Amino acid sequence: MKLNLLVAGILSAVVSLTGCSNEPADTISAQGQFSLKEAFKDKFAIGAAVNELHIADGIESALVAQHYNTLTPENMMKWEEIHPQPDQFSFSRPDALVAFSERQGIQLVGHTLVWHSQTPDWVFYHQDGTRKNRAELLTLMKSHIEAVAGRYKGRVYAWDVVNEAFNEDGTLRQSLWYEIIGDDYLDMAFEYAHEAAPNARLYYNDYNLFKPAKRKGVIELVKRLKSKGIQIDGVGMQAHYALDYPSFDDVEASIEAFSAQGVDVMITELDISVLPFPDDENMGADVGLSIALQDEYNPYTEVLPKEKLDELASRYEALFAIFNRHSDKVGRVTFWGVHDAHSWRNNWPMPGRKDYPLLFGHDKQLKTFATRLPYAG
Ligand code: XIL
Repeated sequence: MKLNLLVAGILSAVVSLTGCSNEPADTISAQGQFSLKEAFKDKFAIGAAVNELHIADGIESALVAQHYNTLTPENMMKWEEIHPQPDQFSFSRPDALVAFSERQGIQLVGHTLVWHSQTPDWVFYHQDGTRKNRAELLTLMKSHIEAVAGRYKGRVYAWDVVNEAFNEDGTLRQSLWYEIIGDDYLDMAFEYAHEAAPNARLYYNDYNLFKPAKRKGVIELVKRLKSKGIQIDGVGMQAHYALDYPSFDDVEASIEAFSAQGVDVMITELDISVLPFPDDENMGADVGLSIALQDEYNPYTEVLPKEKLDELASRYEALFAIFNRHSDKVGRVTFWGVHDAHSWRNNWPMPGRKDYPLLFGHDKQLKTFATRLPYAG
């Protein structure tokens, strides 16, 4: 019996080495052995944004465990979800994700403590509609950070402390955080996060950070925090891209520039839309942008044509060639979603489209080109 098993094992090893199986190398069964986290293990951590579905459902959670060694909650740790009312926290789903990550040996990155979006109005306004003042908002920010980052102290590896604080020109966004507290709200958020979770890595996260002006604003932030002795460990470049956007030279220049400040660089929300973007002025990832569905912007409702799939493949190849070249600087690459069916790009900035931005398709199968990305070199 043992001998039979041994012979069978040797035979199957020979078949897979010589490619003498009945199936072409790129079929799903060949991909079944393939693991993104294994493929990139000498380069950087590889991750995905997940929601409760990915840890509850059998197929989804198996995919997650097979391919990723870092996860980010897509929505469940955002203020409106985790702290929907002044005296109400909603910890059951995040607790389950933290426990799942620990069981699987996956590093969880918390997203996000301070952001202008997906944050309830009561954070900024009194019940009578008047705005809170600086002291009130700072007190609330501190208690929120203590409650959330403090709860997962030692269990959540890192936090996106502040998300999307900058305008495209590198000035600070006129969010309610900024208007009510002033420009040191970022400094305070990082201080509170450090107090609440002293061992967590603390990151600033934003989109379009390849843009030189925006890059400059973030570099100034990093310098200021460091000069004040406030902990900041990394910059997250979201990377919501498209087939013709952005210039990879700019991406590379930003990786180099952030790293030169002595912080980790992470690609935190990678996806590449194959669809025409309906508003050239506002490419990026401003979640506030919403444009009514028009058929001309939704051309691939059945399948993605081969030439577009090839374009997607070569975009991903070029990007990963850059990330590999800078794997001494890039600590992590996280996709914003696991598979196309669940990607936010189907609904942003135009709800109801069919996009194909990730490595796993609408059928949850790994796209063939993903097994041929540059994993080394
Ligand atoms: C998106 C989620 O994917 C959507 O499900 C949600 O409706 C809106 O937010 N930048 C970020 C992410 O930092 O949190 C956003 O996630 C995408 C843009």
